[in-house]
Amino acid sequence: MTRPILLFGGNGQIGWELRRTLAPLGDVRALERSDVDLVDPDALRRSVREAAPALIVNAAAYTAVDRAERDAGLAQAVNAEAPRILAEEAKRLDSGLVHFSTDYVFDGSATHSYRESDEPAPINVYGNSKRAGEVAIQDVGCAHLILRTSWVYSMRGANFLLTVRRLAGELEELRIVGDQRGAPTWARMIAEATAVILARCSAPGGTADLQDRGGLYHLTASGETSWHGFAVAVVDWMRTTGQPLRCKRVLDIPTKDYPTPAKRPANSLLDCGKLRETFGLTLPDWREQLSLCLEG
Ligand SMILES: NC(=O)c1ccc[n+]([C@@H]2O[C@H](COP(=O)([O-])OP(=O)(O)OC[C@H]3O[C@@H](n4cnc5c(N)ncnc54)[C@H](OP(=O)(O)O)[C@@H]3O)[C@@H](O)[C@H]2O)c1
Repeated sequence: MTRPILLFGGNGQIGWELRRTLAPLGDVRALERSDVDLVDPDALRRSVREAAPALIVNAAAYTAVDRAERDAGLAQAVNAEAPRILAEEAKRLDSGLVHFSTDYVFDGSATHSYRESDEPAPINVYGNSKRAGEVAIQDVGCAHLILRTSWVYSMRGANFLLTVRRLAGELEELRIVGDQRGAPTWARMIAEATAVILARCSAPGGTADLQDRGGLYHLTASGETSWHGFAVAVVDWMRTTGQPLRCKRVLDIPTKDYPTPAKRPANSLLDCGKLRETFGLTLPDWREQLSLCLEG
C-alpha cells in the first residue's frame, strides 16, 4: 500500500484548494482543527505516526496578524512549535514536509523585491512566529519545501478580497492603504503551483524527492500593486459585472492614517526567480489571477 499525503489545515484558504490539487499525486488525508489541534504536541505526533505519510503538507497556521500581537504564545505554538514537531516526525518517517510561509518575515525596508537569500527581520509577532517556523524546519533538517507567499485571497475564509466586496456593497466611500506594495496571490494558484512543484520533484511512480530540489522558495503572483490598487480592481469588477454596489470612491490613504496593532512591511514584494529557474514556474500577474478567481 502506498503511503498517503497528510494535509494539515484542510479547511483554510490554501489547504482547501490543496485537497483537490494534490489528489492526482496520491491519497490525500486532509485534517482540520477538529481532527487535531496543532497546539497539542502529543495529538500532532500521534496523527502523523498513525498515517505514516510519504508527504506532510502543512497549510495550517495562526494567520490573524493583528490578534497575534496579544496572543504571541498561541501564534508561536501554531506557527513555530507545530512545524518543528512535523519536521521531526517527517525526519523520523523519512517523509517530505511542505510548509507555507510569508512575506511578513521581512521588514519591508528594501527597495528591491526580496530574494530567498535576503535576511529576514520580522516587524510583528506573526512574522516572528512564521520565521521561527521556517528556522525550526531547517534546523531539524528533514526533506522539506518551504513556500513563502503573500497577500493570499480566495472566495472562502477571511481575506481582503471578501472584505472589500462586502464593504463596497455597504459604504459609499472606502479608505484603503496605498503605501504598502505587494502581490495579491490567489490560494488556488498557490495550490496548483505546489502540486506542479511536487510532481516535478518526483521520480515516475515514486514520491516527491524534496531532498534534491527542496528548500526555500518564493511563490507569489507576478506584478505588484498596493492594497488600494487591489481594492480598486475589486470595485471595478463589481461595477462592470453589475454587482450590488454602493461604493462611489476608493480613497488612497497612507498607513499612518490606518493604525493597526501589528506593523506591516511597506514592501512585501518577493522575487520568484529561484522558483522560475528551478521548476520553470511563473505565476500569472495578480490582475489575471484576480479575474480568474472572481469569474469563478
Ligand atoms: N493569508 C495570507 O494573506 C497569507 C500570506 C502569506 C502567507 N500565508 C501563509 O499561507 C499559509 C496558509 O494561509 P491561509 O491564508 O490559507 O490561512 P487560513 O485561511 O487562515 O487557514 C489556516 C488554517 O489553519 C487552521 N488552524 C489554525 N490554528 C490551528 C490549530 N491550532 N490547530 C489546527 N488547525 C489550525 C485554521 O483552522 P480553522 O479553520 O479551524 O480556524 C485554518 O483552517 C499559512 O502558512 C500562512 O502563514 C498566508
